[in-house]
Amino acid sequence: MKFHTKNVHFSKKKEDTIHSKVTPIYQTSAFSFKSLQELEAYYEGEGNYLYSRVGNPNTDELGRAVASLEGAEAGVATSSGLSAVLVSILAVAKTGDHVIANDDLYGGTFQLIAKELKEVGIESSFVSFANRETIVEAIKPNTKVIYSESVTNPFLRVEDLEQIVDVAKEYKLVSMIDNTFATPFLCKPLETGIDLVIHSATKYIGGHSDVTAGVVVGSQDLITKVNQKLGNLGANLSPFESWLACRGLKTLSIRMEKQSSNAAKVAEGLVKLTGVKKVFYPSNLSSKGNGAMVTIELDEHQYNIEQFITSLSWIKLVPTLAGVETTVSYPIATSHRALDKETLDALGITRGLIRISIGIEDEQDILDTFTEAISESKN
Ligand SMILES: Cc1ncc(COP(=O)(O)O)c(C=O)c1O
Repeated sequence: MKFHTKNVHFSKKKEDTIHSKVTPIYQTSAFSFKSLQELEAYYEGEGNYLYSRVGNPNTDELGRAVASLEGAEAGVATSSGLSAVLVSILAVAKTGDHVIANDDLYGGTFQLIAKELKEVGIESSFVSFANRETIVEAIKPNTKVIYSESVTNPFLRVEDLEQIVDVAKEYKLVSMIDNTFATPFLCKPLETGIDLVIHSATKYIGGHSDVTAGVVVGSQDLITKVNQKLGNLGANLSPFESWLACRGLKTLSIRMEKQSSNAAKVAEGLVKLTGVKKVFYPSNLSSKGNGAMVTIELDEHQYNIEQFITSLSWIKLVPTLAGVETTVSYPIATSHRALDKETLDALGITRGLIRISIGIEDEQDILDTFTEAISESKN
């Protein structure tokens, strides 16, 4: 099946006596057994479900659906994108091990690895992944994981996945890529040889800003380990949120087509506007489009950023992305808030930096609104 077909046909066909078109919500914390024999069969691997923390038809459906779109053997759904990162790393690294990660990761992932994992004895190094030597120099005898994002935030740099796979193979590391911004519609890291792919399904997988969820996909072997951590740590997703994410997922391909095409046109228009110092928009992500995120930098001395945000009329300021509506976020005050001035300067996160998540509206309306807001906010 091609992507658009696969995208809407992940529900199983005719498996119940009541043939609902859409998978129902199994809003139950546990599953009952007719006999002790049936309970025993579950533990022998013959029965399906026991307890929703360790498995539920709706969470399974979400894991399977994303696995199918990413071309993976298996997948699991988690309570959030961040818990997906956590259980993935803990499935591979333990106290005394070391993780090497790209230095321009999503701020929450940076905090998780640099602070929380450090407190349980997992060390980490954050280096630029721009060239191979820098990565290799940071590898230690106890390094177990190499971690990055297929498209980085907020500068939208497209990661060199082949380089990561190459280093991972040579130094026997497990490679992990957060594919949240690109989605499997535009990028399939497993095809390049990446071991685990992670999503904040809160973003494009769900697509409607109404669910917080995560997904991890990869080989059956690795996903079994991730699933064990997930069950033991209680990082499971609820049946209802899994169901919502699956409902949203069905329109991923058409949303990504429209949002990417809108983003390309809006980025082109923004480049021409006076007052926009820089526009960050990838050009080399995929032949199907380059994603729906655009980051701009306004001259903070000539433009009043506060005024710019309030002049955006129907475009909301939100600390998230990927919904069907165009929104903006302000990295220095949200995703990168915890970073010190020196790190912010090194990364180039300034007061004029605005990250735009382009929606499915008419592209001219989006561009006109930015044009007006920029002109209204000139000092
Ligand atoms: C790239 C990326 N990865 C992971 C996360 C964390 O996801 P969640 O908020 O679903 O825990 C985010 C959240 O913004 C993100 O942007």
